[in-house]
Amino acid sequence: MRRVIALCCLPLFFTLHTPAQVIQFDSGRRIWLITTAYSSYAMGLTPDGELQHLYWGGPLSRIADLPPAQRRRDISSFDPHQMLENEEYPGWGGPRFYEPALKITRAGGNRDLVLQYVSHRQEGNRLDIELKDIRDPIQVTLHYLAYPDTGILARWSTIHNQTSQTITLESAQSAVWNLPPGAGYYLNYLSGRWGAEDQINREPVREGMKVLESRLGHTGHNLSPWFAIDDGEANEDFGRVWFGALAWSGNWRITVEQTPYQQVRIVGGFNPFDFLYPLNPGESLETPVFYGGFSAHGWGEASRLLHRLELQDIEPHGLQARPRPVLYNSWEATEFNVSEEGQKALAAKAAKLGVELFVVDDGWFGERSSEHAGLGDWYVNPQKFPHGLASLITYVNQLGMDFGLWVEPEMVNPNSDLYRKHPDWVIHFPNRPRSELRYQLVLNLARDDVKEFIFNTLDHLASQYNIRYFKWDMNRIFSEPGWPEVPPNEQRELWVRYVQNLYDIMRRLREKHPNLEMESCSGGGGRVDLGILRYVDEFWTSDNTEAFDRLHIQNGFSQAYAPKLMSDWVTDVPNMNHRSTSLEYRFLVAMQGALGIGANLNKWTEQDNQTATRMIALYKRIRNTIQFGNLYRLLSPWTHDVSAVEYTSQDGKQAVLFVYRHSQEFNTPAPAIRLAGLDPKALYRLESPDGKLQASGELSGAFLMQNGINFRLSDDYDAAAVILHRVDGN
Ligand code: GLA
Repeated sequence: MRRVIALCCLPLFFTLHTPAQVIQFDSGRRIWLITTAYSSYAMGLTPDGELQHLYWGGPLSRIADLPPAQRRRDISSFDPHQMLENEEYPGWGGPRFYEPALKITRAGGNRDLVLQYVSHRQEGNRLDIELKDIRDPIQVTLHYLAYPDTGILARWSTIHNQTSQTITLESAQSAVWNLPPGAGYYLNYLSGRWGAEDQINREPVREGMKVLESRLGHTGHNLSPWFAIDDGEANEDFGRVWFGALAWSGNWRITVEQTPYQQVRIVGGFNPFDFLYPLNPGESLETPVFYGGFSAHGWGEASRLLHRLELQDIEPHGLQARPRPVLYNSWEATEFNVSEEGQKALAAKAAKLGVELFVVDDGWFGERSSEHAGLGDWYVNPQKFPHGLASLITYVNQLGMDFGLWVEPEMVNPNSDLYRKHPDWVIHFPNRPRSELRYQLVLNLARDDVKEFIFNTLDHLASQYNIRYFKWDMNRIFSEPGWPEVPPNEQRELWVRYVQNLYDIMRRLREKHPNLEMESCSGGGGRVDLGILRYVDEFWTSDNTEAFDRLHIQNGFSQAYAPKLMSDWVTDVPNMNHRSTSLEYRFLVAMQGALGIGANLNKWTEQDNQTATRMIALYKRIRNTIQFGNLYRLLSPWTHDVSAVEYTSQDGKQAVLFVYRHSQEFNTPAPAIRLAGLDPKALYRLESPDGKLQASGELSGAFLMQNGINFRLSDDYDAAAVILHRVDGN
């Protein structure tokens, strides 16, 4: 079978082939080969049943080329063969001392675990391999699911206790990814903090272990569960890149380990820190999914493959999802000072600009007039909204907009009716302080009564009102993570059960309210990962909405997450860091993803309104290309004074280019911007909505990509947009 793949990274006339059978098995030599148009992944069994990793990289077509898995020889009594072999999923047992995939203790204290192959099942692009301990019925199913359109492999594991005694898991990892043996690799990862998420890091992989993790209870602002490791010579367009993302919104960990034997191993799953998970006889635990992919064409293609997977295979509506609507949110304008009158006035102004989704943020419920009170009391505040929310929602709907509402259901202020009634519902240790952060405590979502309370609260709101969208916030990290109501050996299950129950609430809500959309927010980008993406439509990128800072944050975000998932607002200036930029500049920055407005419209001048109306109309003409197309990071704001991003539509008919200049010095002209991802033979008509492009008419893809085009960008914080229309009818 010849598959023509709708490519996200090469011009459309180019086709790649995925073999008829994505997963092949050579039963004689006991080798599996998983091949797509982008990559191959191979494993094999040694004669004594050890499952070894054989290959991960560019596509291979012939399974016969692969050497069978072999047992190595010990080098010395300090270098046993087990340490030299790239095991696919090593238990902690025998003489194995690198990072294990699974570490357990049996009821009697025995901790040795050696896993061997038992059987396998294959169905379509899914392969399950059963491993079992050499003595006891402790079993692990390794799951592999291949996505042919991107070459990305989803890997996770299920650990089963078939013994007659309880075993305790101390480390349960999703998967181990092995790179081709060697040195000289570079690790790329994202780090940050509140208001400064997604900073890009790049550093050599050396002997020893690098740990990326969250111990915070949520995904975290500090590190993102994503990695890209390259061959040391890669850039946006060239070089081999192995990348992965862990789909978990709680304590996670990814380790990158280079052994003395030039093995490079990436292990990821539940964070073993403070982790203990008992499995009673007959019970099992499923780990999060760890996605991994390969690109032979640099970080740019690696990102585009991941973006495609997110839009096509992970987010709730997949490619059927509607484009993200233009949103208005008054948080930065009014903070807690919301009222029916005030929100109606803003809604009328927002509708005139072309806004499609009007969101009421924090402050609408309980006694919530500041951070100090109200969280947990999810009734509409009667002073602020004397007619409930119905009157406002009807008004918003009559203006032609959908209505959205901010909620932070996992939290409680001690000053609330809910906490007075259920002080035991929060995560805590008995007779220990309960550390408040932002004057709030975390509800113990691992408890079934709390879980039902949260589901019922949100279900009630979504059933009672015409709510299209929840902005689901989570504004603090965990502390004193106790669950005193369950036996001591089960208390640490909290880390896992909290997240499972969070997902379960979201899943049930979506099932019951199929039109409901959700944004994952956690004080900005504190809960951005592919686990929660199964239930939400977008992420709040950062509480820092200052446009120049945002250029960097957005560039970092785009390494791992698709533009459509990136919620971006235009807000007032000065903001956060006291910098002021023009309204046009702020719009062109916020158009890189899902455009929203968070400014105080009551203060906007007539000219501001005209600019905003024009910019929103422009965005609506190009948003399909931005949200569903292919992103090319042409020049990075991290390294260049003039930065640029380009998007090409899936059908190749439109491309959009944004160019940003940081500052003007010595009247030096901005450099020519060379485009990417166009058809060299096609002609493109150039449209310059702001007149800053120094070219007009039609130009060939070859000229645009080789010579580039110039812009009049003569101010500090200057920006321009160009739309390219393919004119040859193909
Ligand atoms: C968090 C969010 C903000 C806003 C406030 C409201 O900080 O990130 O966008 O919703 O909470 O309290």
